[in-house]
Amino acid sequence: MQRLLAAPAGGSSALSPMAFEAIRDLLYSISGITLGPAKHGLVQARLGKRLRELGLDSFEAYVARLGSDPAEVPRMVDAMTTNKTSFFREAVHFDFLLERALPVWRRPDHRPRVWSAGCSTGEEPYSLAMLLVESLSEPRLRDASILATDISERVLARARSGEYSGGALGDIAPRRRERFFEPSETGGRVRPEVRSLVRFARLNLLESWPMRGPFDAIFCRNVMIYFDEPTRARLAQRFRALLAPGGLLLIGHSETLGASHEGFTCLRPSVYARDR
Ligand SMILES: C[S@@+](CC[C@H](N)C(=O)[O-])C[C@H]1O[C@@H](n2cnc3c(N)ncnc32)[C@H](O)[C@@H]1O
Repeated sequence: MQRLLAAPAGGSSALSPMAFEAIRDLLYSISGITLGPAKHGLVQARLGKRLRELGLDSFEAYVARLGSDPAEVPRMVDAMTTNKTSFFREAVHFDFLLERALPVWRRPDHRPRVWSAGCSTGEEPYSLAMLLVESLSEPRLRDASILATDISERVLARARSGEYSGGALGDIAPRRRERFFEPSETGGRVRPEVRSLVRFARLNLLESWPMRGPFDAIFCRNVMIYFDEPTRARLAQRFRALLAPGGLLLIGHSETLGASHEGFTCLRPSVYARDR
């Protein structure tokens, strides 16, 4: 850690290769996010803003600050996460749940449990919650729960607020918008019947996980794409351990578990079931 944070000599507000490497290595060691050389401009842009907020005049000073102020480290990680998301993103996953999972989840002895791992600002878990409200009747619905986690407190605060802009709401079919949102100053707020199904918590996927399984489905979409192959392989096996037999792991459309899908059956691209 000390080695990672030893400030490079010299100082300027341009991001030097040494400062880039120090930030890249620290970010990787904490979050698993990998930054190739092409991400130099991204780091400069995202952390340049942070430098100005702190009144620092060089990235070298910022690297030194990361070493001396533990509270700055999560802020840096926060700034470097990519949080793009939307309601009902990659809609075929929701259609798949309706066709294949919900008939099982409706059974009287079932308590559906879903985990949205890397939930960003909440659109993914709230989309899942809307689907559950539409598909389950009481008492199954009362027993259903969605855990939604992310490494970033900034996005979790937005998710917990349940407030979305008109633009974000544009991704939702009008009948759902009317049913599940109440008007608010920002555009719309998720109604309590949907919010009550979702519990948000900060969780770094690289650290230990306090919760127990089994989950019926884990959504980890567009998160592992930022990780390297060994990290993805380890995570896939940790997800497997928390899934019920036959439980589903859904990843982003542009992702694959590749060689790390041992113990899973690939049902279709980006949808895996834990072997029984
Ligand atoms: C691109 S968003 C994906 C959001 C949503 N799953 C979707 O597909 O629309 C990726 C999220 O993963 C989170 N993330 C990145 N590294 C993480 C880690 N080590 N632990 C937990 N979350 C992480 C980021 O903060 C970000 O909000």
